Amino acid sequence: QVASNPSQISKEVADRIAELITERAAEGKQAVLGLATGSTPVGVYSELVRLHRDEGLSFQNVVTFNLDEYFPMLPDELQSYVRFMREHLFDHIDIDPANVHIPDGTLAVEQVPDYCRQYELKIEEAGGIDIQLLGIGRTGHIGFNEPGSGRSTLTRLITLDRVTRVDAASDFFGAEHVPRRAITMGVGTVLGAREVIMIAFGEGKSQIVAKAIEGPITPAIPATFLQEHPNARVYLDEAAAAAL
Ligand code: GLP
Repeated sequence: QVASNPSQISKEVADRIAELITERAAEGKQAVLGLATGSTPVGVYSELVRLHRDEGLSFQNVVTFNLDEYFPMLPDELQSYVRFMREHLFDHIDIDPANVHIPDGTLAVEQVPDYCRQYELKIEEAGGIDIQLLGIGRTGHIGFNEPGSGRSTLTRLITLDRVTRVDAASDFFGAEHVPRRAITMGVGTVLGAREVIMIAFGEGKSQIVAKAIEGPITPAIPATFLQEHPNARVYLDEAAAAAL
């Protein structure tokens, strides 16, 4: 879906998430959200905060799993995705902190494989992800699944692509300060969600968006695997859709 106005997209996506939450609450069930960071979903989060504040949308029945976190990373650091999620969403809604899951960037490296298996298990125990929100990186990554990530990959430690580290340089005051690794849900984890919503804004994303949507499915561009998902939608502003 292409819209001229990014805020219209953010509102539409937030409304879909709110609808799921409300439906599940009426059934006495939980809604399980897969959440993303980066600049793209910020408008969705501020709209969800508005719906909570002004229209009484409750998050008490919501369970969340974030896609990824830099490794290593302390939760209070400026670039931490824990901090990002608190600032943009969790500090402003009534979600139970016990229902929030974000990959832990503070582990010792030898603890990571077991931690990642547990992360997958927790998603399974929650009943699987209802809606997975995604942005896209210039390498074609979803979460931090960089080129080379196969269709069935699960949550794991990954080495970040050089392009991704350059793109993150301004957040870290120089590419040399960007962590070399990250913990990310896998492509398989993302494809396991019942509904996937990818959003991309701006001309800088237009080339990779065209490849992701129209190119051959390949681990060289992990976002292409979304073509195989039965219920995936991509929301683009006109600039991001320009190369389609
Ligand atoms: C980071 C995140 C991705 C996100 C990407 C794009 O790499 N790990 O999940 O999609 O950035 O970020 P932005 O939305 O700022 O363009």
